[in-house]
Amino acid sequence: MDGNGRWASKRHLPRNLGHKEGIKAMMRTAKACNKLAIPYVSFYAFSTENKNRDKSEVDGLISLMREHLDSIADDLSQFGARLNVIGDISYFDSDLQNKITNVQRSTQNIEDRVVNIALNYGGRDELIYAAQQYKGSKIDRPLCDFLYTAGQPDPDILVRTGGEKRLSNFMLYQLAYTELFFSDTFWPDFSDKELNAIIDEYYNRDRRFGK
Ligand code: IPE
Ligand code: MG
Repeated sequence: MDGNGRWASKRHLPRNLGHKEGIKAMMRTAKACNKLAIPYVSFYAFSTENKNRDKSEVDGLISLMREHLDSIADDLSQFGARLNVIGDISYFDSDLQNKITNVQRSTQNIEDRVVNIALNYGGRDELIYAAQQYKGSKIDRPLCDFLYTAGQPDPDILVRTGGEKRLSNFMLYQLAYTELFFSDTFWPDFSDKELNAIIDEYYNRDRRFGK
């Protein structure tokens, strides 16, 4: 979900207002994906590298998580989606960690749809975590069983907004054969119309998986 900061700067607003607007776009998109019967959607909200931004921005992002997590989980559950946080949440204070655990627990029985929100997520971090668990495991299971996304299918589509054309440490293992889409739209402006256009294009692509 890239481009929140530039969306705000363009309007002479503080960056954190851009992030707040980004949450609205996230919920809009989650709803649109639900309508399209997409069972798994992931939003990259806060990376392991985003922690290196100015303290005021990081604090602002963490405040937004604290403020909005309950209502996000609530709204998602309204249409049968379960909130699942991926990433190393031990970085957050115990209050926010508890909040994350609680919102996940409160929707854990929902099985129709899963919405992953990546918080303090890094693809390399995830692989190191998975490798450690894999090594310590007594039973023979594939590495992907130890990723944060264990049990979920690999993504069919990746959309990066905000004009940059890179993965920025997102789902490095899972994206091996994912169809990539790059959009110049700043994330807060991302619309259902654009999502639908991406999905139309997706159906016109020929996926061969190396065959
Ligand atoms: C993406 O928007 C959201 C986060 C990384 C939290 P940015 O904050 O990267 O916005 P730009 O790239 O500065 O416009
Ligand atoms: Mg950015």
